[in-house]
Amino acid sequence: MPAPTTTESTELNLVVNGGRPLEGTIRVGGAKNSALKLMAATLLAEGTYRLANVPRITDVALMSDLLRATGSEVRWDESGARPVLVVDVPAVIEPVAPYELVEQFRASIVVLGPMLARCGEARVALPGGDDFGPRPIDMHVRGLAELGAEFETRHGYIHASAPNLLGARVLLEFPSVGATENLLMAAVRAKGVTVIDNAAREPEIADLCELLNKMGSRIEGSGSSTLTIEGVEELHSADHTVIADRIEAATYLAALGIAGGEITVEGARHDHMVMLCQKFGEMGMRISPDADGIWAFSGRRLRSSDCSTLPYPGLATDFKPFLVALLATTEGVGIVTENLFSGRFRYVDELRRMGADIRTDSHHAVVRGVERLSGAPVRAHDIRAGAALVIAGLAADGQTTVSEAHHVARGYDDIAGKLRGLGADVVLA
Ligand code: UD1
Repeated sequence: MPAPTTTESTELNLVVNGGRPLEGTIRVGGAKNSALKLMAATLLAEGTYRLANVPRITDVALMSDLLRATGSEVRWDESGARPVLVVDVPAVIEPVAPYELVEQFRASIVVLGPMLARCGEARVALPGGDDFGPRPIDMHVRGLAELGAEFETRHGYIHASAPNLLGARVLLEFPSVGATENLLMAAVRAKGVTVIDNAAREPEIADLCELLNKMGSRIEGSGSSTLTIEGVEELHSADHTVIADRIEAATYLAALGIAGGEITVEGARHDHMVMLCQKFGEMGMRISPDADGIWAFSGRRLRSSDCSTLPYPGLATDFKPFLVALLATTEGVGIVTENLFSGRFRYVDELRRMGADIRTDSHHAVVRGVERLSGAPVRAHDIRAGAALVIAGLAADGQTTVSEAHHVARGYDDIAGKLRGLGADVVLA
């Protein structure tokens, strides 16, 4: 089965009939935000890479096309029990990321670091991506400049050159995930030692460090806010298994909070989502790690709680739409504060169409839980917002139709089928 294409499901809706509790086991896929970066890392060295547990989502299809544009070959090997993404990187790559691809997914900017490291130059279109406010790349550019790169922007493209990257001490103004990744992937080939201070600590960054070290890099401090990288002259290809998607796992746990029931999220890493599990516990859900992943039970209406998004290990900004959808159904009032991205509340208007009582004021949302949402036609504006509307539909009276389901397919491999496996009535139609 080929990975979804960019146009597939553009016209499709996710149709949810609410009112059924969730029961059973659901398997979480590999992390989108890790897989895309690991794929970018393959540009660093010639050879064959076998990446297991890569999710079959649109953004992976787009990143595959981006790697193909550089001259690499990308295919799925389906001969084993689970498909493996195979990337063949040639001896010479074309360090270009074309606009037609970059404008469709923001994570594409992470090819900048590896292209510079491998080729001494890169031409990358300025990124687009999720529709939630400005997402600048000034920290990426400033950090790479400290390693000796020079930048010019012409006709919508960043032209970067750095014939000789040199290790340096870089202090990030904010622990940006993307900037940390770009810097890491440039520093592994820089001459001398690079120290990234105030680095992002997300589990997906530790996953990237693990692959880079398998490829011959020397990175210390993985998972901490100080990364020390001793540049090496040569890297080689390697195989890797992508970590579980904590954001997908969070989607199903929030769905349980909304619909009630008892589920096991197989493969989910409790240690990657401690703060969120604590929050669900505070709200009245019973939740704990078990041998297979995370077990959770929700027997009655949960209590509201305040939530603030913060860099890892804080509550991820990607969890927020699920938390708002959940709080729309809990007992009491919860205040949700967004500290990372300004315009990430657009789905609130859609939730209001379903009868949710939510007020927003700059980066805060005040959510007053109602006893029952009411099914309605709504629109997905981005990946997580779309998923939040689907799970809100699980507790709504009647039918909820989430249009523009292609946004959800960017980050979820068959959300409808997986939720059906738990007894929900959700179809892609
Ligand atoms: C990544 C994730 C995204 C997640 C986010 C925060 C991917 C594809 N995306 O996004 O899903 O929601 O981390 O965990 O992996 N900033 C600047 N200048 C920069 C870079 C960032 O001002 O050069 C700001 C951003 O506007 C934002 C904050 O820093 O306010 C965090 O951004 P960052 O961690 O870089 O997020 P992304 O890597 O874009």
